[in-house]
Amino acid sequence: MRPVAEAPAVSTDLEALYDLHDVARTAEQRVPRPVWDFIEGGSGQEGSLRANRTVLDSVFLVPRVLQASAQPNTGTRLLGAPVALPLVVAPMAYQRLVHPGGEVAVGRAARAAGVPFVVPMLSSVPVERIAEGAGTLWLQLYWLRDRGLLTELVDRAKAAGCAALMVTVDVPRMGRRLRDVRNAFALPEDVGAVHLTDADMLAAQHQVPGRSAVASHTRQSFDPAFDWSCLEWLRSHTDLPIVVKGVLDPRDAVLAESLGAHAVVVSNHGGRQLDGAVPGFSVLPAVREAVSEACEVWVDGGFRSGVDVLKALASGATAALIGRPVLWGLALGGEDGVGKVLDLLRDELEDALALSGCADLKAAAGLGLMGELPRRLERHE
Ligand SMILES: Cc1cc2nc3c(=O)[nH]c(=O)nc-3n(C[C@H](O)[C@H](O)[C@H](O)COP(=O)(O)O)c2cc1C
Repeated sequence: MRPVAEAPAVSTDLEALYDLHDVARTAEQRVPRPVWDFIEGGSGQEGSLRANRTVLDSVFLVPRVLQASAQPNTGTRLLGAPVALPLVVAPMAYQRLVHPGGEVAVGRAARAAGVPFVVPMLSSVPVERIAEGAGTLWLQLYWLRDRGLLTELVDRAKAAGCAALMVTVDVPRMGRRLRDVRNAFALPEDVGAVHLTDADMLAAQHQVPGRSAVASHTRQSFDPAFDWSCLEWLRSHTDLPIVVKGVLDPRDAVLAESLGAHAVVVSNHGGRQLDGAVPGFSVLPAVREAVSEACEVWVDGGFRSGVDVLKALASGATAALIGRPVLWGLALGGEDGVGKVLDLLRDELEDALALSGCADLKAAAGLGLMGELPRRLERHE
């Protein structure tokens, strides 16, 4: 496959993008089709991917009025660190696929916006380089067969300044992403998972008809025997706070907390794992209720506007993770493009807070919702 990590040939007028839909439409025209499919695609028939949006659209906020909320405060704390927005840049593999700046550019933009960036284990730039220009950084982990490599990476990340670990628990193997299978998707020769071995890099770049090379390489390197005892083991190896990403059943959230997780991410992995898995947003209130107040509950999957983020806050989340939109921005303008996406979300969230009578995120947590979230509805009846 030809190298694709080139700067876009046509520069984008970021000023002319007024919401994340504009960003998506423009990025789609610029990104090579197989890469676009890799980013946008879900697993199977993409039912969970679609549901992430459907469920967000089916829920409505009940705004308050006359609260004198001229300049709402969007700041909060995540894992004890102050952040400017209740947002986290989601871990996403191989970011140099869409721009040569890759994870370095995303880390810088996240710092400028005052939000944490989760470095993917499958980063296309080493964590040490990302850390040079980044603010709050956390490292995402998949569970590798090679435990030595895993612990080495944890130690490297800590030395580089990563302040927490986010363990992704919904990938015992990769979901069947049919777009990638049909495209025989493989990484170009100048993009790879630099934290893993040379053999992993080569497997992900080896194009085979009717196969996703990315799925093949993860099958080779991820440990399918990953279970709760591994989390206990990790807990004993590190003193960094642990976030468990990819829970949907409240019982799993409770287990994660009992094993020392400081936060859980309620997520169906952007519809990329079990097709048919419930959207994180749908089970968010049940998870919030199941764990203790000390355990932060974050959510992701389809959050595309400040109003969406407000819906997450009103449903009990402390933060929403933003995935694909960050890659759209990166593709269009590197650091500036990601900055544009985060700026749009900030402006929209400020508007949404003001229009719903919320001076801050605490007020947002008390807003009413109507729609398919009966538990919250009960509280407000
Ligand atoms: C291209 C791409 C790569 C991803 N890579 C990872 C990854 O390496 N680790 C992980 O935990 N999640 C990964 N995810 C899932 C995201 O972290 C996040 O859960 C999801 O994208 C959120 O949904 P959204 O894209 O609709 O905002 C990836 C998602 C995309 C789109």
